Amino acid sequence: MIEVKGLTKVYPGGIKAVDNISFTVEKNEIYGLLGPNGAGKTTTIKMLTSALKPTSGDAFVNGLNVRTESLEVRKTIGIVPQDLTADEDLTGFENMYMFAQFYRIPRQEAYEQIEGLLDLVELTESKNRYVKGYSGGMRKRLELALGLLHNPEILFLDEPTLGLDVQTRTRMWDYIREIVKKMGVTIILTSHYLEEIDSLADRMSIIDRGKIVITGTSDELKGSLKGDVISVICDTEGEAEALSSYKDGIDQPIIKGNEVRLSVENSDKDLAKIFNFMIERKITPMSINVHKPSLDQVFLKYTGRTIREAEGGEDVRKSAMNLRRMRA
Ligand SMILES: Nc1ncnc2c1ncn2[C@@H]1O[C@H](COP(=O)(O)OP(=O)(O)OP(=O)(O)O)[C@@H](O)[C@H]1O
Ligand SMILES: [Mg+2]
Repeated sequence: MIEVKGLTKVYPGGIKAVDNISFTVEKNEIYGLLGPNGAGKTTTIKMLTSALKPTSGDAFVNGLNVRTESLEVRKTIGIVPQDLTADEDLTGFENMYMFAQFYRIPRQEAYEQIEGLLDLVELTESKNRYVKGYSGGMRKRLELALGLLHNPEILFLDEPTLGLDVQTRTRMWDYIREIVKKMGVTIILTSHYLEEIDSLADRMSIIDRGKIVITGTSDELKGSLKGDVISVICDTEGEAEALSSYKDGIDQPIIKGNEVRLSVENSDKDLAKIFNFMIERKITPMSINVHKPSLDQVFLKYTGRTIREAEGGEDVRKSAMNLRRMRA
């Protein structure tokens, strides 16, 4: 559905916001772009939606060249931009109807489409209320519905849950999954929330400082780290001592009082071996915990810092830039 080849954007002033990125998105896939503030996510989305001309490289959306066929591209895609677009002084329904007219959807068809979409994002009851009275989550849901109005084949979601609280965010994920299931839409989504991309995206690219540092499924990315850690709390320190002689791990076991930490390649396979080892030596575990690698660790491995550090760094850089501007 989407093919990106060496896409690059240099803004006037020389900022290389997107640096030679390439990836493909398959039909009915949720594809995630994960990156900290200023990584180049919005710039990428703008180029793919034909809102911004690439400096170099190419991108094809539904087989259409974003450079030369921007009108056709825009007909087949829906966009939910990072900034809110709905008119606060209209009701939810009025906003939907205005967009429907903009897309020239015939009246009856528009009514049906609007009804179905408001139902999908659970705004039917609030459809006649002014948008300025909506909560943050309701506003984002309305944006989602607006992006789907003309039945797009591909939906671009730029930070769909930015600024929402954790509970509202997870609800939003359910709506996004529903959309894929019910409407068969292909979704490309950006976020700087690790859990969001981890939970929603079938495949993802981590983007940092304009560059894609790695692409794959969540499992593939996590699998590229060393392995899992199994922590066993034994009944006694003597048993912990006995368990620490387990040799099939990838690192020396770490022993701390009656707890033993075993590094293994894949806990799904190694857990059975560890159980057998414990049975043979009559070790009774009090509790067993499996720690799978997180996307946080993946981010750290491929960028050299945690996503929080990356965001902090950007803030510092931005305020330094503002300071310079103020002085000039
Ligand atoms: N119109 C512009 N002119 C100049 N520089 C820009 C412009 N828009 C963005 N940039 C710069 O390009 C880089 C990438 O910005 P972009 O908005 O694409 O990042 P992002 O990943 O979407 O970040 P965020 O998470 O904050 O939305 C940043 O350094 C930003 O300051
Ligand atoms: Mg952005």
